[in-house]
Order: sequence, then C-alpha cells, then structure tokens
Amino acid sequence: MKHWRIEEVAWDQFDRTKIDARVVPLVKAAAMVERNGTDYALYLNHVFHDDPDFCQAADNWALEEVQHGDTLGRWGMLADPGWDYAAAFARYKDGFKIDTAAAVSVRGSHTGELIARCMVETGTSSYYTALADATDEPVLQHICRLIAADEFRHFKLFYDHMRRYLRRENITLLRRLRIAAGRISESEDDELAFAYHCGNESDGPVYDHQRCLAAYMGQAMTFYRFHHIERGMGMILKAVGLPPRGRLCGLSSRLVWQLVQRRQRRFAKLHGEAPVARAA
Ligand SMILES: [Fe+2]
Ligand SMILES: [Fe+2]
Repeated sequence: MKHWRIEEVAWDQFDRTKIDARVVPLVKAAAMVERNGTDYALYLNHVFHDDPDFCQAADNWALEEVQHGDTLGRWGMLADPGWDYAAAFARYKDGFKIDTAAAVSVRGSHTGELIARCMVETGTSSYYTALADATDEPVLQHICRLIAADEFRHFKLFYDHMRRYLRRENITLLRRLRIAAGRISESEDDELAFAYHCGNESDGPVYDHQRCLAAYMGQAMTFYRFHHIERGMGMILKAVGLPPRGRLCGLSSRLVWQLVQRRQRRFAKLHGEAPVARAA
C-alpha cells in the first residue's frame, strides 16, 4: 500500500517564480534513478527467491520508488515544459543495466544486500530532506517531504529484514562496515552520473562520467547542512550495528561533514563553478 498518491500532490500550487534553476537538473536526474526501481525489485526477487514475504515487500517498495520517479518527472516537466520525462527515462533504461537475473547478492550475503539497501535509503532520505529544506518552490518542497518520509520507511523495512538475516548469517561487524562503505562509495559510479546525462543532455555532449558526476555532485552537495549529515550518520551506524547516537556518531558526522564540503568544492571546481559557501 502506497502512503500517498501522485494525484494527491497540490500541483496547482506550483510557483514558477520560486524555482531555483540549479535544482531542476538534479530533480530530472533523480527521476531517472527512482523510476528504475523495478529493475532492483527484479534483482531482489532473484536474490531472495526463497523468501516470499520479502519478495512481496520488495515489489511494494518498487511501486513507491516508481512513484517517486513519476512525481519528480512530472515536476521536472512543469519546471521545464520542453522536457520529455518518458524519453529521458527510456535513454537511461537503455544505457544503465543491472544484473536483474543474478541468483546471489553482489554483496556476498542476504545480510550484506540488505545493509547495502539501508545505505541507499539513508542517502535518499537525507537527500530529499536536504532538498526540501533548500527549495522555496512549494510543490517541490511538498514532494521532497513525501518522498523523504517514504525513504525513511524503506530504511526501516530493509533494516528489519536485515536483522532477521543477521541472526542466521552472523557476518562480522568489520564485514558489515566494509559493505556499507562500499555501497556509499558507489554513489560516484555511473548510476547518478548517467542519470544526470540522460535527464539533461539529450542533444548535448556524449556521456562523460567525470563531467556528469561533477555537475551532479557539485550542486547536490550544496544542499546539505550538518544536521542532515548527523541524522544520516545515525542511520548508517544503526544499520551496521553500532550505537546511532553518542560520541562515535558526533565524531564521524563531523568527519563526514568535512569530507562533504571538500568533495563539494572539488566537484564545483571540476564543473567550472565557484564553490558555494555553506554554514552548518
Ligand atoms: Fe525513492
Ligand atoms: Fe527508497
């Protein structure tokens, strides 16, 4: 059961004068990745083929992810009436493939797969919260809050299943940390960079990973504030089995905050933009 429907969004509240032009390409790129949720559901159905309850949960999860894509896509077409969401997504689907027929998880275990899913949901939950806080456009703000709430529920869904599998598979803390760190570092792989290309460069240059990654990340990272990072860090620590609050969370949040600011400056430089100074 979806928690909300695209028709329930107050589309008539859309206010063109409140659009930040830097946000539009990011929304278009995010729509690509979200809409691709069905491929991940196929993959999860193969990996968890002997767990019908989880397969059902994964199918419901994918319906929500697809709705995220369609909602962001609809906003993208309002913001840029010349943009064709369906055509952009067709380009993305054609060029970005995951192994939907994989019989075992690429993370080496069911627990590992679910920790990786928790990392993705932590990232999206934090990102849409940061984007909602950063935008003044009322419809986008509303959409981002609805999506962020879904992403947090998705985190809880995968976390609960992960705990169940962890009791059975009992993989070490070190292994869990490695899987979490590995999945976080994959945010700089093709998934987002290629989504930026397909969502924004239909008649433009050929796909270049570094250029598209810099264009996406250089802007996306400017929306974060320290409290978004701190909350995300709590979720990451919880997923790997460490205390989500306290000194460890505080210390690691400050380190990651420094890293985010450094990466933002680096990507902005690569993209040829002046870095945007942000207070915590
Ligand atoms: Fe999503
Ligand atoms: Fe999600």
